[in-house]
Amino acid sequence: MAPLPTLLILLCAVRGALLYHPIWKPMWPASKVPVVLPQLTEDLDAPEFTAEAKLEVTSPCGPECHKRASVPSYEELKELLSYETLYFNGSLTQTNVGIYGLNMAELARTQGNKGRSRAKRQIYGHDSRFSIFGKDFLLNYPFSTSVKVSTGCTGTLVADRHVLTAAHCIHDGKSYVKGAKKLKVGFLKPRQKEESSNQTRSHLPEKMKFQWIRVKRTHVPKGWIKGNANDIGMDYDYALLELKKPHKRRYMKIGVSPTAKQLPAGRIHFSGYDNDRRGNLVYRFCEVREETYDLLYQQCDAQPGASGSGVYVRMWKREHRRWERRIIGIFSGHQWVERDGMPQDFNVAVRITPLKYAQICYWIKGNYADCRDG
Ligand SMILES: *[C@@H]1O[C@H](CO)[C@@H](O)[C@H](O)[C@H]1NC(C)=O
Ligand SMILES: *[C@@H]1O[C@H](CO)[C@@H](O)[C@H](O)[C@H]1NC(C)=O
Repeated sequence: MAPLPTLLILLCAVRGALLYHPIWKPMWPASKVPVVLPQLTEDLDAPEFTAEAKLEVTSPCGPECHKRASVPSYEELKELLSYETLYFNGSLTQTNVGIYGLNMAELARTQGNKGRSRAKRQIYGHDSRFSIFGKDFLLNYPFSTSVKVSTGCTGTLVADRHVLTAAHCIHDGKSYVKGAKKLKVGFLKPRQKEESSNQTRSHLPEKMKFQWIRVKRTHVPKGWIKGNANDIGMDYDYALLELKKPHKRRYMKIGVSPTAKQLPAGRIHFSGYDNDRRGNLVYRFCEVREETYDLLYQQCDAQPGASGSGVYVRMWKREHRRWERRIIGIFSGHQWVERDGMPQDFNVAVRITPLKYAQICYWIKGNYADCRDG
């Protein structure tokens, strides 16, 4: 018979294994979230809706250029986070915001110096995306949180009537896009029996179709509208849509983006409606290659149509004592970046920084008290 200490160690080991207690568990870092509060809202002239929806944004400013960019001042941040709200009846307002509880010294420290990028980089290999088939997957979490935005992008359900997407799906930096006037959000639903009753088709994947809900209002940050997709403009490529009625599906909460090092296996995940696979929801994951304070650079395979997808990770939430997936970024677009004389291909996602979290959370909840825990 084994001596008592050995037995105890064995028992502990077994118990540990049963509880699945890895030595390192990726945890959601505790974030101090500042407050972004609307201060003054004024009416603007009704917009023209003249721009063509461009499903791909590009910026000549790569990671090194972003790292060199100066840290915005407090006043500049207030400008960037002020926002326009477009209503379904065509009226438009502009809201100025105040920012409270922001530690500028810390911001300068974290934003100014991100260190050297990781040396190893790969070009895209074979297509590593997965089309998601079957209603068991499409209608269940987390894939069920991916919705189609009527201008051609993807969005993610982040509350019971809110959808997060990319700003460029709504506004090209100068003007609202044509389709933004009657914006809708599409939910994949199985087709009714009678529509797909043709027996010869029964071997094909289950037919799904979009059911559309109108958008009541849309918020776009001024940081995007002013920037027009150059330099800093991509940093603010996000928009929040409020549906006319609740969607009744489970949604994925937003969270403050951890650093790339804190991500499980350094990876992010997202699903979207890539144009080259019409009607399919396409899922992928990949490693983050580079990061700046506002952007994640990665080489996930993606096609136009996937932009606006919520980039998520699954980590342990200490306060809730459970694993949680949260949206930490919005897939923006595709970039060729000149590096050491060689063009490098990157896909870019906008990170949800503490300030952006505060802003988007306020848009969702309408108060800041529920937005202090990122
Ligand atoms: C449009 O809707 C908003 C919000 O419901 C309202 O404040 C505004 O007056 C409306 N504008 C027009 C032109 O009807
Ligand atoms: C059912 O499939 C057959 C063979 O593909 C086709 O000829 C027929 O038109 C289809 N019927 C309907 C109602 O779609």
